[in-house]
Amino acid sequence: MNILLLGSGGRESAFAWKLSQSPKCEKLFIAPGNAGTGQYGTNIDTKVTDFEGIKQIVLNNNIDLVLVGPEEPLVKGIHDFFLADEKLKSIPVIGPQREGAQLEGSKDFSKQFMVRHNIPAAASKTFTRETMQEGFEYLATIGLPIVLKADGLAAGKGVLICLTVVEAQQELIEMLTEAKFGEASSKVVVEQFLQGIELSVFVLTDGNNYKMLPSAKDYKRIGEGDTGLNTGGMGSVSPVPFADKEFLQKVEQRIVIPTINGLKQENIPYKGFIFIGLMNCGGDPYMIEYNCRMGDPETESVLMRIESDLVDLLQGVADGNLNEKELVISDKIATTVVMVAGGYPGEYLKHKTITGIENVRDSQVFHAGTYLDGENIKTSGGRVLAITSLQNDLFTALQQATADASRIYYDGMYFRKDIGFDLL
Ligand code: AMP
Ligand code: GLY
Repeated sequence: MNILLLGSGGRESAFAWKLSQSPKCEKLFIAPGNAGTGQYGTNIDTKVTDFEGIKQIVLNNNIDLVLVGPEEPLVKGIHDFFLADEKLKSIPVIGPQREGAQLEGSKDFSKQFMVRHNIPAAASKTFTRETMQEGFEYLATIGLPIVLKADGLAAGKGVLICLTVVEAQQELIEMLTEAKFGEASSKVVVEQFLQGIELSVFVLTDGNNYKMLPSAKDYKRIGEGDTGLNTGGMGSVSPVPFADKEFLQKVEQRIVIPTINGLKQENIPYKGFIFIGLMNCGGDPYMIEYNCRMGDPETESVLMRIESDLVDLLQGVADGNLNEKELVISDKIATTVVMVAGGYPGEYLKHKTITGIENVRDSQVFHAGTYLDGENIKTSGGRVLAITSLQNDLFTALQQATADASRIYYDGMYFRKDIGFDLL
């Protein structure tokens, strides 16, 4: 079959790499893709939110299945767009419709969903400009620190952790009355702080059946020892050593099953990935957030460990018989080190030539912010490359991914050398 993959990051490079290995994949197109995805298929320049443009790509290339990488087109309703179009409606889209994507697109929606289905999560309340006064009262009652979340998509920046009630009041005012995160913060979820270690669990579902994919942990801060500014993600490890069988069973029973059943009960169709962001609080899982897509850079580590044919699994999602498909996961450990541009996550350098990729020995190089300029591979984004190594043990995987990252060079390049060290 011919497949169209939407997106342009490290996640999509990993998807393209994995999809292209399937004997079921005839032609792979990636829109817009990057210099790395071009190794596995044909890049087509478009915006992931240009639905009319995507329609033309699908029709011109006899696409049989569309896999949506990032959240934005899902939250904006790309799947609904396909279903409403005579020519597109029979072409399966992997990724939920607008309503299901609200699990990520609205923190208020997802918190209410958790409450309705008894899914363990931090206590919270949602406030608007009209109810800000009540918000102030609530801030004084929930204990410190206080978590404030912009309701809508805010490019990963909409969560604030405030150390004092006064700071939280000030932020609440800015979010609600000064549109600190634009329209996204016209509603704010005020939430109790959860103490614990974070990890993510990924689920693939056809809306009825589900498969639990490998767990992963990502490293969000720019600096070693988890310091400094937040980024899109500086590295990942899969599996997460502390997420043992017992813990994952709790996740499945308390979170995954109620989530799938909840969607069914509420007649919310959902075909795609569910990213479950968790806090391990003394051995018990609590929800932090849902995302309606895979994580980046978690996907790079997770897909390296999936031995089964991903196209076959996605076909199971499309056909509603995911239960008949086989999911084999490697026992090995995958570690991803993200190489970023100088200056990132602030203003960063661009158009720097990347050399040395051919010297990488035992890792997979997934491109993120790269493009081809004639023969040269150049940097275009903040996150430039993701270097993933799959090894028998965590220490070797960390060492190999880091050593291989060191073999690559571009002006201003930076990566963390301590990814996963907290887990050793
Ligand atoms: P989110 O955008 O929901 O992923 O939140 C961003 C980050 O804020 C998470 O990855 C956590 O590190 C942190 N966070 C969010 N909610 C909470 C919470 N209730 N308690 C502690 N940390 C949180
Ligand atoms: N790595 C976190 C995310 O993809 O949202």
